[in-house]
Amino acid sequence: MHPHFRTIIEPFRIKTVEPIQFTTWEQRADIIEAAGYNLFLVRAENVLIDLLTDSGTGAMSSFQWAGMMQGDESYAGARSFYKFEAAAQRITGFKHIIPTHQGRAAERILFGNVCKPGYVVPNNTHFDTTRANVECQGAQALDLPCAEAHQPALIAPFKGNMDVDALTHTLQTVPRDQVPVVMLTVTNNSGGGQPVSMANIRAVSQVCHAHGVPFFLDACRFAENAFFIKQREPGYADKTALEIAQEMFSYADGCTMSAKKDGMANIGGFLALHDDDLAQRCKNTLILTEGFPTYGGLAGYDLEAIAVGLEEVLHEDYLRYRLRSIAYLGEKLDAAGVPFMKPTGGHALYLDAAAMLPHIPASHYPAQALAVALYQEGGIRSVEIGSVMFGRVHADGSEEPAALELVRLAFPRRVYTQSHVDYVAEVVTYVARLKDNLRGYRISWQPPQLRHFSAQFEPLR
Ligand code: F0G
Repeated sequence: MHPHFRTIIEPFRIKTVEPIQFTTWEQRADIIEAAGYNLFLVRAENVLIDLLTDSGTGAMSSFQWAGMMQGDESYAGARSFYKFEAAAQRITGFKHIIPTHQGRAAERILFGNVCKPGYVVPNNTHFDTTRANVECQGAQALDLPCAEAHQPALIAPFKGNMDVDALTHTLQTVPRDQVPVVMLTVTNNSGGGQPVSMANIRAVSQVCHAHGVPFFLDACRFAENAFFIKQREPGYADKTALEIAQEMFSYADGCTMSAKKDGMANIGGFLALHDDDLAQRCKNTLILTEGFPTYGGLAGYDLEAIAVGLEEVLHEDYLRYRLRSIAYLGEKLDAAGVPFMKPTGGHALYLDAAAMLPHIPASHYPAQALAVALYQEGGIRSVEIGSVMFGRVHADGSEEPAALELVRLAFPRRVYTQSHVDYVAEVVTYVARLKDNLRGYRISWQPPQLRHFSAQFEPLR
Protein backbone atom coordinates (compact mmCIF):
# COMPACT_ATOMS: atom_id res chain seq x y z
CA MET A 1 0.00 0.00 0.00
CA HIS A 2 1.20 3.53 -0.80
CA PRO A 3 1.86 5.32 2.50
CA HIS A 4 -0.15 8.46 1.50
CA PHE A 5 -3.41 6.75 0.52
CA ARG A 6 -5.70 5.68 3.31
CA THR A 7 -8.63 4.12 1.42
CA ILE A 8 -8.66 0.36 1.96
CA ILE A 9 -9.90 -1.20 -1.29
CA GLU A 10 -11.07 -4.67 -2.26
CA PRO A 11 -7.74 -6.38 -3.08
CA PHE A 12 -9.12 -8.12 -6.16
CA ARG A 13 -10.89 -7.37 -9.41
CA ILE A 14 -13.93 -9.23 -10.67
CA LYS A 15 -13.53 -11.86 -13.40
CA THR A 16 -16.88 -13.68 -13.24
CA VAL A 17 -20.16 -12.11 -12.12
CA GLU A 18 -23.29 -13.71 -10.74
CA PRO A 19 -26.45 -11.61 -11.24
CA ILE A 20 -28.61 -11.01 -8.17
CA GLN A 21 -32.37 -10.80 -8.38
CA PHE A 22 -34.49 -7.80 -7.40
CA THR A 23 -37.98 -8.46 -6.02
CA THR A 24 -40.76 -6.05 -5.09
CA TRP A 25 -42.03 -5.41 -1.55
CA GLU A 26 -45.28 -7.23 -2.46
CA GLN A 27 -43.40 -10.25 -3.85
CA ARG A 28 -41.32 -10.46 -0.67
CA ALA A 29 -44.46 -10.27 1.48
CA ASP A 30 -45.78 -13.38 -0.30
CA ILE A 31 -42.41 -15.17 -0.25
CA ILE A 32 -41.81 -14.68 3.48
CA GLU A 33 -45.38 -15.67 4.37
CA ALA A 34 -45.08 -18.86 2.28
CA ALA A 35 -41.81 -19.62 4.13
CA GLY A 36 -43.58 -19.42 7.51
CA TYR A 37 -41.51 -16.30 8.28
CA ASN A 38 -38.39 -18.50 8.46
CA LEU A 39 -35.52 -17.12 6.36
CA PHE A 40 -33.88 -20.55 6.10
CA LEU A 41 -36.91 -21.60 4.03
CA VAL A 42 -36.65 -18.76 1.47
CA ARG A 43 -35.11 -19.70 -1.89
CA ALA A 44 -31.71 -18.05 -2.33
CA GLU A 45 -32.74 -16.65 -5.73
CA ASN A 46 -35.34 -14.54 -3.90
CA VAL A 47 -32.66 -12.90 -1.75
CA LEU A 48 -30.91 -9.72 -2.92
CA ILE A 49 -28.03 -9.58 -0.42
CA ASP A 50 -27.43 -12.87 1.38
CA LEU A 51 -25.81 -12.40 4.78
CA LEU A 52 -27.17 -15.63 6.25
CA THR A 53 -23.67 -16.99 6.71
CA ASP A 54 -20.02 -16.58 5.76
CA SER A 55 -19.75 -20.38 5.61
CA GLY A 56 -19.01 -21.90 2.21
CA THR A 57 -20.41 -18.80 0.49
CA GLY A 58 -17.14 -17.10 -0.48
CA ALA A 59 -15.80 -16.42 -3.95
CA MET A 60 -12.79 -18.48 -4.94
CA SER A 61 -9.77 -16.95 -6.63
CA SER A 62 -8.53 -17.74 -10.12
CA PHE A 63 -5.65 -19.62 -8.42
CA GLN A 64 -8.12 -21.80 -6.55
CA TRP A 65 -10.07 -22.60 -9.72
CA ALA A 66 -6.79 -23.35 -11.50
CA GLY A 67 -5.79 -25.63 -8.63
CA MET A 68 -9.09 -27.48 -8.91
CA MET A 69 -8.28 -28.44 -12.49
CA GLN A 70 -5.23 -30.24 -11.10
CA GLY A 71 -7.27 -32.23 -8.57
CA ASP A 72 -6.01 -35.78 -8.22
CA GLU A 73 -9.08 -37.96 -7.72
CA SER A 74 -7.20 -41.11 -6.69
CA TYR A 75 -8.89 -42.95 -3.85
CA ALA A 76 -5.70 -43.42 -1.85
CA GLY A 77 -2.58 -41.28 -1.63
CA ALA A 78 -3.76 -38.56 -4.02
CA ARG A 79 -1.26 -35.77 -4.78
CA SER A 80 -3.99 -33.26 -3.80
CA PHE A 81 -4.08 -34.70 -0.28
CA TYR A 82 -0.35 -34.09 0.24
CA LYS A 83 -0.74 -30.50 -0.98
CA PHE A 84 -3.65 -30.01 1.43
CA GLU A 85 -1.77 -31.67 4.28
CA ALA A 86 1.32 -29.50 3.71
CA ALA A 87 -0.78 -26.30 3.61
CA ALA A 88 -2.56 -27.18 6.88
CA GLN A 89 0.68 -28.33 8.55
CA ARG A 90 2.55 -25.16 7.59
CA ILE A 91 0.04 -23.10 9.58
CA THR A 92 -0.97 -25.43 12.41
CA GLY A 93 2.18 -27.51 12.91
CA PHE A 94 0.05 -30.54 13.87
CA LYS A 95 1.39 -34.00 13.04
CA HIS A 96 -1.89 -35.56 11.87
CA ILE A 97 -4.16 -33.73 9.41
CA ILE A 98 -7.45 -35.59 8.91
CA PRO A 99 -9.70 -34.22 6.14
CA THR A 100 -13.48 -34.08 6.71
CA HIS A 101 -16.39 -32.87 4.59
CA GLN A 102 -16.96 -29.90 6.92
CA GLY A 103 -16.28 -28.65 10.44
CA ARG A 104 -19.04 -30.52 12.24
CA ALA A 105 -17.76 -33.86 10.91
CA ALA A 106 -14.41 -33.12 12.60
CA GLU A 107 -16.34 -32.27 15.78
CA ARG A 108 -18.37 -35.48 15.67
CA ILE A 109 -15.28 -37.61 15.13
CA LEU A 110 -13.33 -35.88 17.93
CA PHE A 111 -16.12 -35.84 20.53
CA GLY A 112 -17.27 -39.32 19.54
CA ASN A 113 -13.79 -40.58 20.42
CA VAL A 114 -13.15 -38.64 23.65
CA CYS A 115 -16.57 -37.94 25.27
CA LYS A 116 -18.67 -40.17 27.50
CA PRO A 117 -21.96 -39.44 29.29
CA GLY A 118 -21.39 -37.07 32.21
CA TYR A 119 -18.13 -35.62 30.82
CA VAL A 120 -17.69 -31.84 30.58
CA VAL A 121 -16.24 -29.88 27.62
CA PRO A 122 -15.45 -26.21 28.43
CA ASN A 123 -15.27 -23.65 25.58
CA ASN A 124 -15.33 -19.83 25.48
CA THR A 125 -18.70 -20.26 23.70
CA HIS A 126 -19.72 -23.38 21.81
CA PHE A 127 -21.05 -22.85 18.31
CA ASP A 128 -24.45 -24.57 17.91
CA THR A 129 -23.13 -27.65 16.02
CA THR A 130 -20.22 -27.96 18.47
CA ARG A 131 -22.63 -27.90 21.42
CA ALA A 132 -24.95 -30.40 19.70
CA ASN A 133 -22.04 -32.77 18.97
CA VAL A 134 -20.88 -32.66 22.62
CA GLU A 135 -24.42 -33.10 23.95
CA CYS A 136 -25.28 -35.99 21.63
CA GLN A 137 -22.47 -37.96 23.34
CA GLY A 138 -24.27 -37.31 26.67
CA ALA A 139 -21.57 -34.83 27.75
CA GLN A 140 -22.06 -31.27 28.98
CA ALA A 141 -21.02 -28.32 26.78
CA LEU A 142 -19.92 -25.64 29.27
CA ASP A 143 -19.56 -22.01 28.07
CA LEU A 144 -17.02 -19.91 29.98
CA PRO A 145 -16.90 -16.51 28.21
CA CYS A 146 -15.11 -13.57 29.81
CA ALA A 147 -17.22 -10.97 31.66
CA GLU A 148 -17.00 -8.36 28.83
CA ALA A 149 -18.76 -10.77 26.45
CA HIS A 150 -22.08 -10.15 28.22
CA GLN A 151 -22.15 -6.40 27.47
CA PRO A 152 -23.01 -5.78 23.79
CA ALA A 153 -22.30 -2.02 23.85
CA LEU A 154 -18.93 -2.29 25.62
CA ILE A 155 -15.87 -1.68 23.43
CA ALA A 156 -13.02 -3.99 24.42
CA PRO A 157 -10.29 -5.50 22.21
CA PHE A 158 -10.72 -9.22 23.01
CA LYS A 159 -14.30 -9.93 24.01
CA GLY A 160 -13.89 -13.49 22.69
CA ASN A 161 -11.59 -14.46 25.58
CA MET A 162 -12.31 -17.33 27.94
CA ASP A 163 -12.73 -16.65 31.67
CA VAL A 164 -9.49 -18.29 32.83
CA ASP A 165 -10.45 -18.23 36.54
CA ALA A 166 -13.71 -20.03 35.74
CA LEU A 167 -11.75 -22.61 33.71
CA THR A 168 -9.30 -23.13 36.59
CA HIS A 169 -12.22 -23.59 38.98
CA THR A 170 -13.84 -26.12 36.61
CA LEU A 171 -10.64 -28.13 36.26
CA GLN A 172 -10.15 -28.12 40.05
CA THR A 173 -13.67 -29.36 40.76
CA VAL A 174 -14.51 -31.78 37.91
CA PRO A 175 -12.42 -35.01 38.11
CA ARG A 176 -9.55 -34.93 35.58
CA ASP A 177 -10.76 -37.96 33.59
CA GLN A 178 -14.15 -36.31 33.02
CA VAL A 179 -12.79 -33.32 31.08
CA PRO A 180 -11.57 -34.95 27.86
CA VAL A 181 -10.66 -31.69 26.11
CA VAL A 182 -10.94 -27.90 26.48
CA MET A 183 -11.86 -25.93 23.34
CA LEU A 184 -11.34 -22.28 22.45
CA THR A 185 -13.31 -20.90 19.48
CA VAL A 186 -11.36 -18.33 17.42
CA THR A 187 -12.98 -15.99 16.68
CA ASN A 188 -15.89 -16.51 19.08
CA ASN A 189 -18.78 -16.82 16.60
CA SER A 190 -21.71 -17.21 19.00
CA GLY A 191 -20.19 -14.44 21.13
CA GLY A 192 -20.26 -11.84 18.34
CA GLY A 193 -17.30 -12.82 16.13
CA GLN A 194 -15.00 -11.35 18.76
CA PRO A 195 -11.31 -12.29 18.83
CA VAL A 196 -9.35 -14.14 21.50
CA SER A 197 -6.01 -12.61 22.53
CA MET A 198 -2.70 -14.48 22.34
CA ALA A 199 -2.35 -13.89 26.09
CA ASN A 200 -5.68 -15.66 26.66
CA ILE A 201 -4.76 -18.58 24.35
CA ARG A 202 -1.46 -18.94 26.24
CA ALA A 203 -3.16 -18.75 29.66
CA VAL A 204 -5.84 -21.31 28.73
CA SER A 205 -3.14 -23.61 27.37
CA GLN A 206 -1.11 -23.33 30.60
CA VAL A 207 -4.12 -24.09 32.82
CA CYS A 208 -5.09 -27.09 30.65
CA HIS A 209 -1.59 -28.52 30.62
CA ALA A 210 -1.13 -27.98 34.38
CA HIS A 211 -4.19 -30.22 34.80
CA GLY A 212 -3.15 -32.71 32.12
CA VAL A 213 -6.11 -31.85 29.85
CA PRO A 214 -5.66 -31.58 26.05
CA PHE A 215 -6.38 -28.15 24.57
CA PHE A 216 -7.98 -27.76 21.11
CA LEU A 217 -8.82 -24.71 19.01
CA ASP A 218 -12.07 -24.45 17.04
CA ALA A 219 -10.08 -22.74 14.32
CA CYS A 220 -12.74 -21.83 11.71
CA ARG A 221 -11.77 -18.15 11.65
CA PHE A 222 -8.13 -18.40 12.77
CA ALA A 223 -6.85 -15.89 10.18
CA GLU A 224 -9.33 -13.17 11.16
CA ASN A 225 -8.38 -13.80 14.81
CA ALA A 226 -4.67 -13.56 13.95
CA PHE A 227 -5.15 -10.20 12.22
CA PHE A 228 -7.09 -8.79 15.19
CA ILE A 229 -4.11 -9.81 17.37
CA LYS A 230 -1.78 -7.99 14.95
CA GLN A 231 -3.93 -4.84 15.11
CA ARG A 232 -4.78 -4.86 18.82
CA GLU A 233 -2.31 -6.81 20.97
CA PRO A 234 0.95 -5.15 22.03
CA GLY A 235 4.01 -6.85 20.54
CA TYR A 236 2.36 -8.26 17.42
CA ALA A 237 2.23 -5.29 15.02
CA ASP A 238 5.44 -6.33 13.24
CA LYS A 239 4.66 -10.04 13.02
CA THR A 240 3.03 -11.51 9.91
CA ALA A 241 -0.46 -13.01 10.07
CA LEU A 242 1.15 -16.39 9.34
CA GLU A 243 3.59 -16.07 12.25
CA ILE A 244 0.75 -15.07 14.58
CA ALA A 245 -1.41 -17.98 13.43
CA GLN A 246 1.52 -20.36 13.91
CA GLU A 247 2.00 -19.09 17.45
CA MET A 248 -1.74 -19.49 18.21
CA PHE A 249 -1.64 -23.13 17.12
CA SER A 250 1.68 -23.78 18.91
CA TYR A 251 -0.10 -23.61 22.30
CA ALA A 252 -2.73 -26.21 21.30
CA ASP A 253 -2.72 -30.00 21.04
CA GLY A 254 -5.11 -30.04 18.10
CA CYS A 255 -7.91 -28.25 16.29
CA THR A 256 -11.17 -28.70 14.45
CA MET A 257 -11.54 -26.61 11.31
CA SER A 258 -14.30 -25.70 8.90
CA ALA A 259 -12.53 -24.83 5.64
CA LYS A 260 -15.81 -23.17 4.57
CA LYS A 261 -14.68 -20.14 6.56
CA ASP A 262 -10.97 -19.29 6.65
CA GLY A 263 -10.17 -22.17 4.27
CA MET A 264 -11.78 -19.92 1.61
CA ALA A 265 -13.47 -22.97 0.10
CA ASN A 266 -17.11 -23.85 -0.57
CA ILE A 267 -16.85 -27.14 1.32
CA GLY A 268 -14.38 -29.01 3.53
CA GLY A 269 -12.72 -29.12 6.89
CA PHE A 270 -10.24 -31.04 8.98
CA LEU A 271 -9.34 -32.40 12.37
CA ALA A 272 -5.68 -31.94 13.27
CA LEU A 273 -3.75 -33.18 16.28
CA HIS A 274 -0.43 -34.42 17.62
CA ASP A 275 -1.54 -37.51 19.60
CA ASP A 276 -0.77 -40.69 17.59
CA ASP A 277 -3.19 -42.96 19.43
CA LEU A 278 -6.16 -40.57 19.28
CA ALA A 279 -5.38 -39.80 15.60
CA GLN A 280 -5.54 -43.52 14.81
CA ARG A 281 -8.91 -43.88 16.54
CA CYS A 282 -10.23 -40.81 14.73
CA LYS A 283 -9.01 -42.15 11.37
CA ASN A 284 -10.86 -45.41 12.06
CA THR A 285 -14.10 -43.45 12.62
CA LEU A 286 -13.34 -41.40 9.51
CA ILE A 287 -13.08 -44.51 7.35
CA LEU A 288 -16.41 -45.72 8.73
CA THR A 289 -18.36 -42.52 8.05
CA GLU A 290 -16.47 -40.04 5.82
CA GLY A 291 -13.91 -41.83 3.71
CA PHE A 292 -10.31 -42.96 3.47
CA PRO A 293 -7.89 -40.69 5.41
CA THR A 294 -6.41 -39.15 2.25
CA TYR A 295 -9.74 -37.69 1.10
CA GLY A 296 -12.16 -37.77 4.07
CA GLY A 297 -15.37 -37.26 2.09
CA LEU A 298 -13.91 -34.57 -0.19
CA ALA A 299 -13.08 -34.62 -3.88
CA GLY A 300 -9.43 -34.16 -4.82
CA TYR A 301 -10.36 -30.80 -6.32
CA ASP A 302 -11.83 -29.69 -2.97
CA LEU A 303 -8.50 -30.49 -1.28
CA GLU A 304 -6.75 -28.34 -3.93
CA ALA A 305 -9.13 -25.41 -3.34
CA ILE A 306 -8.52 -25.58 0.42
CA ALA A 307 -4.73 -25.85 0.02
CA VAL A 308 -4.67 -22.61 -2.01
CA GLY A 309 -7.32 -20.96 0.21
CA LEU A 310 -5.34 -21.56 3.40
CA GLU A 311 -2.44 -19.69 1.84
CA GLU A 312 -4.53 -16.80 0.44
CA VAL A 313 -6.49 -16.20 3.64
CA LEU A 314 -3.31 -15.05 5.39
CA HIS A 315 -2.54 -12.35 2.78
CA GLU A 316 -2.58 -9.19 4.82
CA ASP A 317 -4.15 -6.96 2.16
CA TYR A 318 -7.06 -9.40 2.16
CA LEU A 319 -7.37 -9.49 5.97
CA ARG A 320 -7.09 -5.70 6.24
CA TYR A 321 -9.95 -5.30 3.71
CA ARG A 322 -11.96 -8.09 5.33
CA LEU A 323 -11.99 -6.60 8.84
CA ARG A 324 -12.33 -3.07 7.45
CA SER A 325 -15.48 -3.84 5.44
CA ILE A 326 -17.34 -4.97 8.59
CA ALA A 327 -15.98 -2.02 10.62
CA TYR A 328 -17.12 0.33 7.81
CA LEU A 329 -20.71 -0.94 8.15
CA GLY A 330 -20.37 -0.48 11.91
CA GLU A 331 -19.33 3.16 11.51
CA LYS A 332 -22.35 3.89 9.30
CA LEU A 333 -24.80 2.19 11.68
CA ASP A 334 -23.24 3.87 14.70
CA ALA A 335 -23.68 7.29 13.07
CA ALA A 336 -27.36 6.39 12.53
CA GLY A 337 -27.76 5.38 16.18
CA VAL A 338 -28.48 1.70 15.42
CA PRO A 339 -27.54 -0.56 18.39
CA PHE A 340 -25.17 -3.44 17.65
CA MET A 341 -22.56 -5.53 19.40
CA LYS A 342 -19.31 -3.60 19.68
CA PRO A 343 -16.70 -3.63 18.39
CA THR A 344 -17.63 -5.24 15.06
CA GLY A 345 -16.46 -8.84 14.64
CA GLY A 346 -14.25 -10.40 12.00
CA HIS A 347 -16.90 -11.97 9.79
CA ALA A 348 -20.11 -10.32 10.91
CA LEU A 349 -21.95 -7.47 12.55
CA TYR A 350 -24.49 -8.46 15.20
CA LEU A 351 -27.48 -6.12 15.55
CA ASP A 352 -28.82 -5.83 19.11
CA ALA A 353 -32.54 -6.48 18.66
CA ALA A 354 -33.30 -6.33 22.39
CA ALA A 355 -31.95 -2.75 22.51
CA MET A 356 -33.64 -1.77 19.24
CA LEU A 357 -37.07 -3.31 19.96
CA PRO A 358 -37.67 -2.99 23.72
CA HIS A 359 -41.45 -3.18 23.14
CA ILE A 360 -41.15 -6.81 21.90
CA PRO A 361 -40.56 -9.24 24.82
CA ALA A 362 -38.10 -12.14 24.38
CA SER A 363 -41.07 -14.53 24.32
CA HIS A 364 -42.16 -12.83 21.06
CA TYR A 365 -38.71 -13.21 19.45
CA PRO A 366 -37.55 -9.62 18.75
CA ALA A 367 -34.50 -10.76 16.76
CA GLN A 368 -36.73 -12.85 14.49
CA ALA A 369 -38.95 -9.79 13.97
CA LEU A 370 -35.92 -7.71 12.99
CA ALA A 371 -34.53 -10.38 10.64
CA VAL A 372 -37.89 -10.70 8.86
CA ALA A 373 -38.16 -6.90 8.55
CA LEU A 374 -34.71 -6.66 6.91
CA TYR A 375 -35.87 -9.16 4.30
CA GLN A 376 -39.29 -7.58 3.84
CA GLU A 377 -37.97 -4.05 3.42
CA GLY A 378 -34.67 -4.62 1.61
CA GLY A 379 -34.36 -8.25 0.46
CA ILE A 380 -31.51 -8.82 2.93
CA ARG A 381 -31.19 -12.25 4.52
CA SER A 382 -29.60 -12.37 7.99
CA VAL A 383 -29.80 -14.93 10.77
CA GLU A 384 -31.50 -14.76 14.16
CA ILE A 385 -29.13 -15.51 17.03
CA GLY A 386 -31.49 -15.12 19.96
CA SER A 387 -34.27 -17.03 21.65
CA VAL A 388 -35.34 -18.86 18.49
CA MET A 389 -31.84 -20.35 18.13
CA PHE A 390 -30.76 -20.60 21.77
CA GLY A 391 -33.96 -20.46 23.86
CA ARG A 392 -34.43 -23.58 25.98
CA VAL A 393 -37.80 -25.32 25.78
CA HIS A 394 -38.69 -27.15 29.03
CA ALA A 395 -40.73 -30.35 29.25
CA ASP A 396 -43.84 -28.38 30.36
CA GLY A 397 -43.64 -26.26 27.19
CA SER A 398 -42.34 -23.14 28.97
CA GLU A 399 -39.32 -21.37 27.48
CA GLU A 400 -36.17 -19.88 28.91
CA PRO A 401 -35.02 -17.01 26.66
CA ALA A 402 -31.45 -16.67 25.33
CA ALA A 403 -29.06 -14.25 27.06
CA LEU A 404 -28.92 -11.95 24.00
CA GLU A 405 -31.30 -11.18 21.11
CA LEU A 406 -29.00 -10.67 18.11
CA VAL A 407 -29.36 -10.59 14.33
CA ARG A 408 -26.14 -11.56 12.56
CA LEU A 409 -25.17 -9.96 9.27
CA ALA A 410 -22.40 -12.36 8.16
CA PHE A 411 -20.35 -11.42 5.12
CA PRO A 412 -19.31 -14.04 2.56
CA ARG A 413 -15.60 -13.68 1.74
CA ARG A 414 -14.70 -11.59 -1.35
CA VAL A 415 -18.34 -11.51 -2.59
CA TYR A 416 -19.89 -8.10 -1.92
CA THR A 417 -18.47 -4.67 -2.72
CA GLN A 418 -18.59 -1.40 -0.82
CA SER A 419 -21.81 -0.27 -2.54
CA HIS A 420 -23.51 -3.48 -1.36
CA VAL A 421 -22.41 -2.58 2.16
CA ASP A 422 -23.74 0.99 1.69
CA TYR A 423 -27.09 -0.49 0.64
CA VAL A 424 -27.17 -2.77 3.71
CA ALA A 425 -26.49 0.24 5.97
CA GLU A 426 -29.33 2.16 4.30
CA VAL A 427 -31.83 -0.70 4.75
CA VAL A 428 -30.86 -1.34 8.39
CA THR A 429 -31.15 2.38 9.17
CA TYR A 430 -34.57 2.52 7.49
CA VAL A 431 -35.83 -0.50 9.46
CA ALA A 432 -34.47 1.01 12.69
CA ARG A 433 -36.64 4.10 12.03
CA LEU A 434 -39.71 1.90 11.48
CA LYS A 435 -39.05 -0.01 14.68
CA ASP A 436 -42.16 1.07 16.58
CA ASN A 437 -44.28 -0.58 13.86
CA LEU A 438 -42.54 -3.96 14.19
CA ARG A 439 -44.42 -6.73 16.01
CA GLY A 440 -43.26 -10.03 17.46
CA TYR A 441 -43.95 -13.60 16.37
CA ARG A 442 -45.21 -16.85 17.85
CA ILE A 443 -43.98 -20.28 16.83
CA SER A 444 -46.80 -22.29 15.26
CA TRP A 445 -44.72 -25.44 14.64
CA GLN A 446 -41.27 -26.60 15.73
CA PRO A 447 -39.14 -29.75 15.57
CA PRO A 448 -37.62 -31.25 18.77
CA GLN A 449 -34.04 -30.05 18.05
CA LEU A 450 -32.28 -27.20 16.21
CA ARG A 451 -35.66 -25.55 15.67
CA HIS A 452 -34.35 -22.39 13.99
CA PHE A 453 -33.75 -24.28 10.74
CA SER A 454 -37.35 -25.34 10.17
CA ALA A 455 -39.74 -23.70 12.67
CA GLN A 456 -42.87 -21.99 11.33
CA PHE A 457 -43.90 -18.57 12.70
CA GLU A 458 -47.04 -16.43 12.79
CA PRO A 459 -46.90 -12.65 13.16
CA LEU A 460 -48.58 -11.20 16.27
CA ARG A 461 -50.87 -8.26 15.67
N1 F0G B 1 -17.43 -23.93 14.68
C1 F0G B 1 -17.76 -22.65 14.45
C2 F0G B 1 -17.21 -21.58 15.33
C3 F0G B 1 -18.62 -22.34 13.39
O1 F0G B 1 -18.94 -21.06 13.16
C4 F0G B 1 -19.12 -23.38 12.56
C5 F0G B 1 -20.03 -23.09 11.45
C6 F0G B 1 -18.71 -24.69 12.84
C7 F0G B 1 -17.87 -24.93 13.91
C8 F0G B 1 -19.20 -25.86 12.01
O2 F0G B 1 -18.62 -25.87 10.76
O3 F0G B 1 -20.54 -25.57 9.18
O4 F0G B 1 -18.36 -26.53 8.41
O5 F0G B 1 -19.85 -27.86 9.86
N2 F0G B 1 -20.62 -21.99 11.34
C9 F0G B 1 -21.51 -21.58 10.25
C10 F0G B 1 -22.10 -20.23 10.59
C11 F0G B 1 -22.49 -22.58 9.82
O6 F0G B 1 -23.02 -19.80 9.89
O7 F0G B 1 -21.63 -19.57 11.52
P1 F0G B 1 -19.38 -26.49 9.49
